[in-house]
Amino acid sequence: LASTEVDLSPIAVGQAVTVMWRGKPVFVRRRAEEEIKAAREVPLSQLRDPQTDQSRVIRDPWLVVVGVCTHLGCVPLGQKPTDARGDYGGWFCPCHGSHYDTSGRIRLGPAPANLAVPEYNFTSDTQIRIG
Ligand code: FES
Repeated sequence: LASTEVDLSPIAVGQAVTVMWRGKPVFVRRRAEEEIKAAREVPLSQLRDPQTDQSRVIRDPWLVVVGVCTHLGCVPLGQKPTDARGDYGGWFCPCHGSHYDTSGRIRLGPAPANLAVPEYNFTSDTQIRIG
């Protein structure tokens, strides 16, 4: 499938879902206020791959990223509330220890770049189309 539709309405605050798009997992997270705040308070000078949170988000509180570690391609943990989310509260890649923040940006470990933001848009207030 070239594009994937995601119904956002069942996703509670702080929860995330994983959908498949072009053979890759895509993480859709409904961030809590404090997660958004944490992502926006970080100075760009502290980031390995400097991108503002705002530039990675189309509409709050939704974060949509490709769930493939930019080091060697493992799928990071952090989608389930019981998962290890790493030192920055986003995702943790157990393969070699990369830590991503609540914007999916690389903060610690060997990965060179942020989790990619796929092409997507809102088709209604409660639905997105990826791709
Ligand atoms: Fe994720 Fe190496 S593949 S840290």
